[in-house]
Amino acid sequence: MKTVVKIRAMALALTFLPGLALALIPENSAAASGTNPLPLTPSQAEGPYYPVAKLADQDNDLTRIGTGNVAQGTIIVMNGRVLDQAGRPVPAATVELWQTDTNGIYMHPGDSRTDQRDQAFQFFGQTRTDELGRFEFRTILPGIYGTRPRHMHAKVIRPGKRTLTTQLYFKGDERLARDFLTRRLGERLSALLLDPQPGANNALSAAIVFVVE
Ligand SMILES: [Fe+2]
Repeated sequence: MKTVVKIRAMALALTFLPGLALALIPENSAAASGTNPLPLTPSQAEGPYYPVAKLADQDNDLTRIGTGNVAQGTIIVMNGRVLDQAGRPVPAATVELWQTDTNGIYMHPGDSRTDQRDQAFQFFGQTRTDELGRFEFRTILPGIYGTRPRHMHAKVIRPGKRTLTTQLYFKGDERLARDFLTRRLGERLSALLLDPQPGANNALSAAIVFVVE
């Protein structure tokens, strides 16, 4: 029973307090014993707007293209970690992020407003996890479009392993309760929620943990 409680607590830490979870997961935690696997991060539909033509600049700073102007909108710095179900860091995973600009417009021919997109925004970026499974993105708070909640899209890619494709949402967004993709997640939605806090230089700061097979 104690073990169940412990795992439940770990799961809660991961889902409700991803930032805290970053600091709390020790190498030799109970979850790392292999007997109590962490819940996998829920996958979500890729959606129709995965870039068909990527810009030359695909780095982890989406707020500007190369040394160009800074994109419109509120900057958000996202710190993340990729773990396996035993709680071990997953190094050298490729993490991709794609999203709309601050006005809810994608760089994609399927978006009817794409010609009006913020030309300074990078729209897609990728990075690799370090030896501790850590990664970072600097981006803009995505705008909303249609009936969807505010969201970002992400993939975690490792050679020979199943790719995690998912979406990240924002805590407190009232559109979450009406969204067909998030409603079906039930409590598991918590694992995909960002809870941005005021950070340095007027930027927001948020944390996320991806648990992959
Ligand atoms: Fe989307």
